[in-house]
This record gives sequence, structure tokens and C-alpha cells, in this order.
Amino acid sequence: MSKEAKLELDGKSYSLPTLEGSEGEKAVDISSLRADSGYITLDESYGNTGSCISKITFIDGEKGILRYRGIPIEEMAEKSTFVEAAYLIIYGSLPNRAQLRRFSDLFTEHQFLHEDMKYHFESFATTAHPMAILSAMINAASCFDDGLMHWHWGQANSQFENYAAKLMSQVRTIAAYSYRKSRGLPLIYPKKAYKYTANFLHMMYSTPYEDYEIKLEVVRALDLIFLLHADHEQNCSTSTVRMVASSQANLFASCSAGVCALWGPLHGGANQAVLEMLEEIHRTGDDGSKFIAAAKDKNSGKKLMGFGHRVYKNYDPRAKIIKRSCDEVLAKLRINDPLLDIAKNLEEAALKDSYFVERKLYPNVDFYSGIIMRAIGIPVEMFPVIFAIGRMPGWIANYKEIMEDSKSRISRPRQIYTGPGLNHYVPMEERK
Ligand code: SDX
Repeated sequence: MSKEAKLELDGKSYSLPTLEGSEGEKAVDISSLRADSGYITLDESYGNTGSCISKITFIDGEKGILRYRGIPIEEMAEKSTFVEAAYLIIYGSLPNRAQLRRFSDLFTEHQFLHEDMKYHFESFATTAHPMAILSAMINAASCFDDGLMHWHWGQANSQFENYAAKLMSQVRTIAAYSYRKSRGLPLIYPKKAYKYTANFLHMMYSTPYEDYEIKLEVVRALDLIFLLHADHEQNCSTSTVRMVASSQANLFASCSAGVCALWGPLHGGANQAVLEMLEEIHRTGDDGSKFIAAAKDKNSGKKLMGFGHRVYKNYDPRAKIIKRSCDEVLAKLRINDPLLDIAKNLEEAALKDSYFVERKLYPNVDFYSGIIMRAIGIPVEMFPVIFAIGRMPGWIANYKEIMEDSKSRISRPRQIYTGPGLNHYVPMEERK
């Protein structure tokens, strides 16, 4: 018998069941609250509300812990690859050789877009943000697939493996094409010879007459960034994917919505905002102190981008790993980027500043990731796209979790209405 929470309302007492997760997280189940008491709960921006029960990723924000299906991110970063981590996150266990081979073969099988997709690319403005293109083209790609156009929740299961691999594979192709399109470059088709991340770099940077030189340190650095972004429990974009999935929309439509949510500068767009912030500090000759002062001033409209987190009230474990990788990659590529020094000085100053310390604001995954992406030639507007490619397995896994839950229902939150009481239509001639 689980513990019960007692609630006293209007002279009546209500008992609410509680539950505890496998890592000791506790919740009060309020599923019956409105029916029993007429009350709902209110938790704007859901800071204290669990939207689901999930087995995929565990985060302890106070301790700075992140685990994919129980495996610490530090071990995954050191020993695994993005494709292997994606399999773990989607299917719940590390793949054996045969499973990994099949997963990889499915990426190869699905890596080409329908040739007519090129006409969609041609219709975008050259100034279109690649996140706008990515979201639109994920849905456009689904239009060329009869199974997605006639998606039936009950039958989707048998085809899920194919659609998961297709989405993960094609998101790379779409992303690379959006970059090429924005530069007026000819599209470069994927090559069977290249593995996941190398193929993406090939499609981004090769020319029709010469393949891009695939440097192992560059592939490893980008693969690590994908891996570190692969899932992060119920963040804004993953919750969006679950919200759309709950209506039984197809996998591509749900993940396309996730791209839109991720784009915001408070979420996945932060890596682009961090680079723009560092470039502004560098350009103005500020040693960082002016910017930090502005970030503390509520009226400035500025924030220390890449700092703070809704869940982590300690150092984001991913930021530690990426910071280390920054030093390694720039050393190997013999790049001396002044923005890295600015970032480190900002971090050092902020972590000594009571404003940030009191609010438990630490570097998050976005603070250093842009430095690496810049070092390997990724343009800043593509940074959120890199995040989206990395997060795709997490979105797919959360979609699968809802689809396989026989009790899943459409998400439909309530509200507290504060608008006008009963009102009536006023004909134009009577209006002021
Ligand atoms: C990601 O959820 C996830 O898991 C996300 C993510 C993932 O993997 O999916 O981890 C990826 O989105 C990381 C976050 C990237 N965003 C940024 O770096 C943007 C800068 N950070 C902030 O906008 C903010 O910290 C958020 C959005 C990340 C968190 O916002 P919250 O939880 O709503 O916190 P808040 O805005 O209520 O801040 C609490 C206080 C406020 O001050 P007071 O009102 O208490 O005086 O801290 C201040 C805020 O003003 N604050 C900051 C700040 N972040 C919070 N002040 C200056 N600079 C900042 N970066």
C-alpha cells in the first residue's frame, strides 16, 4: 500500500495516492482530484508537474546526474557512439553486433530522400533558417511515404523500426541539404561507405568532384555532441513530441513539432545564442564583466546564454564533458579560438558571482558546444539543427513509449479561466 497524501479542502479531507520512481523520485497522483473535489492543480510552466512515467532517461538535477537507460552519461561519452546510444535509448538495451549492424543497415537503406524533395528545397528563401527548413522537410518527407500518410497507431508498431531509422537517417540528409541550399551549393548525396556522422559531414562539405577529408577527430567530436544531446527526459521539445504523439499523429509529424519547440533561444536555440553572445563580447572588447552585469540586470533583456537550467541546480554533466572535448579538439585541430578563452573567463567570473551562485546557475550543455561546432566548421545557424539531429533518438524513444502504453490517452491539460463572465454579441452600429 503506497503512502497517501492528505488534502483538506472546504472542510473535506481527501486522500491522494503517492508513487515513487526507481531512483526515489516521489509524486502525488492527482488523477482523481477534480472528479472528487472539483479542484484542479495549477503549475504554470510545469516546474513541479510530472507529465508521464518513463523508463528512458534519469536526471538528478541536484547531483548533476544524467543516465541513458541507467548508464551514466560519462561512461556513454567515453565508451559509446551516437548510433549505439540511439539504439540504447530507443530500444532499452545496448545492441549486440547483429542488432547494431541491422540498425546501421536501415540508416543506409533510408538515407536518400525522395528525389522530388529537391523541389521543396528550391522553394525556400536562401535566408530561411535551417530549423524552419528542418521542421517543414520532416513533414514533407513523410508525404512520400504511404505508411506515414495512412499511419494507424495499432499497425504502426510493426513498422516502427523502419520509421525510426528512416527519420534518424533522413534528418541528416535534410540538415545537410538545408546548409548546401543556403550557400547555393549543389546537393551532395549520402554515401554507403560512410557511417552515420561521417556521412553527415560528407553531405555537408564534399564537392561534386572531391570528397571532404574525413578527419577522425572531427567525426568523434561531432559524434560526441550528438550523443550528449540524445535524450534529456521531459524537456520542452520532448514534452512537445509527447503532446503531439498523444493525439496519435505519426512519428514524423510529432518530431517535426519537436524541432519547432527546440528552436527557441531558451532551449535548443541557446547554442546559437551563446556563440552570438561570445562574438558580441569579443567584438566590443568587453572582458565579460559588462555582459555579466547586463545579464544580472532584469531590465537589460540579456541573459548569460548557456547558463542556468530548470532541472540542473549543479553543473550540467554534459557541459563538463563538452568543455574537456573543446580543449582536446581545438588542440588537435591546432585552433586557438579567442571565444573559448572568453567562455572560460565568463564561467569563472559567474561561478564566483553571488547572483549566479544564489540562483544555482551553472553552465549547461549549450555553453561550450558551439565552440566545438565552430571549430569543425558548422555555421552558427546550424547549431540548433545539430542539437535536433542529436535529440532525434530521444524524441523517437518517447514517441515509442507512448505508442506502446495501452493506457495512453490524448494530453489535454485544464486551465483557470480569468476572462469576462457571460457576455453578448454587440452589433457594429452599437459599438463605440
Ligand atoms: C536546454 O530542459 C532541458 O533539459 C533542456 C536541455 C535539454 O537537453 O533538452 O537541457 C537543453 O535547453 C538547456 C538550457 C539552454 N538555455 C539557455 O542557456 C538560456 C539561458 N538560460 C535561461 O534562460 C534559464 O536558465 C533557463 C531557460 C534554462 C531555465 O529557466 P527557468 O528554469 O524558468 O529559470 P528562471 O528563468 O525562472 O530563472 C530563475 C532565476 C531568475 O532570476 P530571479 O527572478 O530569481 O531574480 O535565475 C535567473 C532568472 O532571471 N536566470 C538567469 C539565467 N537563467 C536564469 N539570469 C541570467 N542569465 C541566465 N542565463
